[in-house]
Amino acid sequence: MSCELTTKYLGLELVSPVLVGACPLNTQPETVRQLVGAGAGAIVLPSMLQEQVVHRLIKSTDPANAVQRSGYQPQQDRYNGGTEEYLRTIERLKDICTVPVFGSLNGSSPGQWLEYAKEVESAGADALEFNLQQAVFDPLETSNDVESRMCELVRQVSELVSIPVAAKISQRYTNLSSMTTQLQKVGVSGLVLFTHLPQWDISTDRKHWTIHWELSPINTLGGILEGIVRARAGDESVSIAASGGISTAEDSIKSMIAGANAVMVTSAVYREGPDVIRDIVDGITQHLESTQFQTLQAFRDACPTNHWDDEKSVRLEYVDPLTRSDTYFDPTPLVSQHSGDSYGHPN
Ligand SMILES: Cc1cc2nc3c(=O)[nH]c(=O)nc-3n(C[C@H](O)[C@H](O)[C@H](O)COP(=O)(O)O)c2cc1C
Repeated sequence: MSCELTTKYLGLELVSPVLVGACPLNTQPETVRQLVGAGAGAIVLPSMLQEQVVHRLIKSTDPANAVQRSGYQPQQDRYNGGTEEYLRTIERLKDICTVPVFGSLNGSSPGQWLEYAKEVESAGADALEFNLQQAVFDPLETSNDVESRMCELVRQVSELVSIPVAAKISQRYTNLSSMTTQLQKVGVSGLVLFTHLPQWDISTDRKHWTIHWELSPINTLGGILEGIVRARAGDESVSIAASGGISTAEDSIKSMIAGANAVMVTSAVYREGPDVIRDIVDGITQHLESTQFQTLQAFRDACPTNHWDDEKSVRLEYVDPLTRSDTYFDPTPLVSQHSGDSYGHPN
């Protein structure tokens, strides 16, 4: 039996539910060829940053102050190619790619810079992912204000382009279902759950902040699964891609049982190379075959819907695991009791 893995995400028919999440690897034609050959259903380009586009706009009228007014730094162009090269990358990938190519924008405030979305569409992108960064700094800006700012941004982008727009959002919403409903109203076609954040730390000797961009740790799926359920509660029909800690077929299957239409894999591609996509796709196929499903759609249709829709059941989700048992699972990997030198010789 050979399984049909097609899935519908953002209204697009994808040959596979395993997508490669936004990252610079996806600008390299040879890597993209390998990822698609391994079974990726779509490729998401790294984000074009608000600072880069604002800098490009200001440079034409106020070149002396463009850097200072926009927050632009040349390393941003090195990251994704810069505003012009980014469009050429889309054109090149569209020539070689048999699966959809998604552009990506990253920003926190609405405005004229969003017009760049039209150029991304004209270059041939099949969809646009919007990585919504809340950029909260003002204590007087309420959660409602922040959500309205995010929605306004999405509304403006959705009005500018006719390709589907996905919102890649933070896990940090008090009521994710409400945010989902609001985003649907302003025109998103789907959600990427969730955006990836840098890790904060403090150096104890120099007492300064060290904020790093890291790969996702493995075994961190729980928050994503919960997020999918909460977002679905806001809109049963919303298209969802799970993103964050997905590195195996099992992670992918769990995400789809929770309600994801597709999964995105990034850190695992950095760790293991493009072949990890093949391993995940093959693993999903084997799971469907062993459970007698001929199509991914049939598998997803057979998944139970979740009903945590009253206060009592939502409270129970917390209270029951807390009080059910007095032995507690410790997810920390066991530290070896053996001691020795760095070559493994025992003391
Ligand atoms: C090196 C690297 C670069 C990334 N660049 C972007 C980016 O430009 N835009 C974006 O929305 N997400 C970006 N991400 C986040 C990923 O798309 C993804 O959401 C995140 O890594 C979680 O998925 P993972 O656990 O499979 O890595 C990047 C991640 C990595 C590891």
